[in-house]
Amino acid sequence: MKTKEVQEQYNQYVLPTYTRVSMCIVKAKGLKVWDIEGKEYLDFFSGWAVSGLGHCHPAVVNAIKNQIRKVIHIPNNFYGIKQGQLAEKIIQHSFPGRVFFCNSGAEANEGAIKFARRYGSLSGRYEIVTMKNSFHGRTLGALAATAQEKYQKGFNPLLEGFKYVQLNDFEALQKVVSDKTVAIILEPIQGEGGVNIADVDYIKRLRTFCDDRKILLIFDEVQTGMGRTGYWFAFQHYGIEPDLMTLAKSLANGVPIGALVVNRRIKEEVLVAGTHASTFGGNPLATAAGLAVFKAIEEGGLLTRAKEMGEYLRAGLEKIKQKHPAVIKEIRGMGLMLGVELHVPGSDIVNRAREAGLLINCTQDKVLRIIPAMTITKRQADQGLDILDQVLASV
Ligand SMILES: Cc1ncc(COP(=O)(O)O)c(C=O)c1O
Repeated sequence: MKTKEVQEQYNQYVLPTYTRVSMCIVKAKGLKVWDIEGKEYLDFFSGWAVSGLGHCHPAVVNAIKNQIRKVIHIPNNFYGIKQGQLAEKIIQHSFPGRVFFCNSGAEANEGAIKFARRYGSLSGRYEIVTMKNSFHGRTLGALAATAQEKYQKGFNPLLEGFKYVQLNDFEALQKVVSDKTVAIILEPIQGEGGVNIADVDYIKRLRTFCDDRKILLIFDEVQTGMGRTGYWFAFQHYGIEPDLMTLAKSLANGVPIGALVVNRRIKEEVLVAGTHASTFGGNPLATAAGLAVFKAIEEGGLLTRAKEMGEYLRAGLEKIKQKHPAVIKEIRGMGLMLGVELHVPGSDIVNRAREAGLLINCTQDKVLRIIPAMTITKRQADQGLDILDQVLASV
């Protein structure tokens, strides 16, 4: 089969909800990806930050193989071994609490919104504040939380009760919070929004502000979680704990999974039996993969590596910036979640990089996203930086 034939099949049978590039991926290993024509690429994108350990990491592959031989799915009205173990791992590495498992980031955020609504129903509150340029997913609740008009357009009426403010603007936040406010949701680093980092001071003030008013502080760590920023979770950069945290993406390194983590500091029993569910949520396959991810990060020292390689890549990008000041405006990020803000639109650069064998992404028109796996080597980093340098020289 050739890419063209695959494309024709998609054109006929798959709803055109994605803007796709003309490339069909058939194999991937570590940071390498191969297309159907046999061309090799270096992956600095990790499938929207999903393959945090790199593609087909042996620990994950073995865990999946072993689990498949035993049982793939069990209904959530029975117990399985892996779900409890993965929940324990998440809690050990985040904060005392409990976990609800689902299958995606949007679904985890739906769970957080439902939690907030039900928690608020105890005191007649339902409003949720989220940040402009946020991204929380495409289901209707998550979409209402996603404060970007381009995603919401055409889907009115949205779930009501959402208010939007600029990230890091504490005064603006104070103005929109009312006696109906029950929760504030934010990404510690806005990924899709352009790699915008929440300030430490802002988050600390927000924590106290929420504590004083019994407002839930919800961190969407769907993209930042599981080591990418150099800590297990990005909230750990801020010296605070969120009340709720959502995870997905690299939690099982490619096996669909999502998680809502609820801090024990919330004393009320909110999502009790019968209030929320997900058929596939936390099934043996996904949770076995998730456990393998934790083990691989722990045993491979990958948090340190994410920090070190993040600094290495960042230094390399700064050098490229000096060479191309007319193209690159700013480099920002934490660990291996890096953004390169450009003076020019980035789609052409992304296309040229891909043609030259490097996969990257551009968001918000002018921000290149560099989010390689935590297993990246210096050689691979140099290789990717070289390609980017050459592409920028040709712009
Ligand atoms: C921060 C954040 N939250 C939620 C989502 C939605 O996740 P999913 O596509 O798995 O529903 C994304 C996806 O990019 C995300 O980056």
